[in-house]
Amino acid sequence: MNDLRLMPNDKILIIGATGFIGSRLIPELLEKNIKLRLLVRTPSKLSPVLMDNPHIEIVKGDLVKKEGLREAFCRIHTAYYLVHSMGGKSIFKNTEFAQMDKLAAKNFVTAADAEGIKRVIYLGGLGEMGKNLSGHLRSRAEVADILSTGKILATILRAAVIIGAGGASYEMLRYLVERLPVMVCPKWIDTRIQPIAVCDVLAYLVGCLLNPGTAGKRFDIGGTEILTYRQMMQQYAEVNGLCRRIIFRTPLLSPRLAAYWVDLMTPVPSGIAHPLIEGLKNEVICLEHSIDQHVHIDKTSFAEAVRIAIAEEKKNPVSATNKG
Ligand SMILES: NC(=O)c1ccc[n+]([C@@H]2O[C@H](COP(=O)([O-])OP(=O)(O)OC[C@H]3O[C@@H](n4cnc5c(N)ncnc54)[C@H](OP(=O)(O)O)[C@@H]3O)[C@@H](O)[C@H]2O)c1
Repeated sequence: MNDLRLMPNDKILIIGATGFIGSRLIPELLEKNIKLRLLVRTPSKLSPVLMDNPHIEIVKGDLVKKEGLREAFCRIHTAYYLVHSMGGKSIFKNTEFAQMDKLAAKNFVTAADAEGIKRVIYLGGLGEMGKNLSGHLRSRAEVADILSTGKILATILRAAVIIGAGGASYEMLRYLVERLPVMVCPKWIDTRIQPIAVCDVLAYLVGCLLNPGTAGKRFDIGGTEILTYRQMMQQYAEVNGLCRRIIFRTPLLSPRLAAYWVDLMTPVPSGIAHPLIEGLKNEVICLEHSIDQHVHIDKTSFAEAVRIAIAEEKKNPVSATNKG
């Protein structure tokens, strides 16, 4: 594992640097004096401060279109893979997200192996493969499998909903609870989930990079509590000083209808909401805890994660869930 250790001049590539997780990872790595290269589709989405930072190189490119990969991957030690293809306003336009994500992952492995990148660290989704697994969670697992096929050593982190300002799932929860004192929800409202604070996810992502023993391994990561979506909504209301929400459960609300409802009530577009809502039927809790042997963190409780997210929103209102 010695040659996997990070040296002062090694460069780290972030793919997905304009996203919820990628954009938060940048300052965490810079703080550790790590040199970065960002592969981005639209450089203008990055803050001008990053553009001027001498420790950051920016390459315009696209994993699906295979653009900019050679330039971006050249002499990279480790790449973070923080990418998915869901999005857009229409559910119909988004039926191909899984195909695009497969292609992106295959293009990544081919280009990474050609350039001799040593490691990839991927953040995917929790959820066991089986007939009932949603298209979104199945696609996240497929990407994990593809990334593990190359010479490059893949570290796979699997997480459920990440609690932090700007995350699509979190924003869906927040807007629904804030805007609707009375809710009619599908039966997934009582599915169990193990949410995790975004600060804990970042600590694991950085910890895996600094610990070569995590190379080539898969880890489930989660927060301190296992909750149902109903409990998450009630706790969010409590932390935010809102009255207890009245939640009715009905078997009649389909994921498609629920997605259009979320599109109407929140800034999360139906093209993201639909695959995410479909996934709510699947229990997503950690089935193994081996990450604790490699990366030690003081885990953040759900209530504390919500408190931090609310404070962040107040300081800097975000709109990470573009409806365009
Ligand atoms: N958010 C959560 O609650 C959560 C929970 C569990 C796991 N995860 C995992 O965490 C990872 C990051 O998710 P996120 O929430 O940060 O997503 P996000 O905010 O939607 O960001 C996705 C990123 O992927 C980039 N991207 C998409 N297609 C690309 C392509 N063809 N080439 C290059 N870049 C491309 C996007 O760039 P543009 O800005 O150009 O669109 C964006 O930077 C994903 O693997 C996701 O499954 C997230």
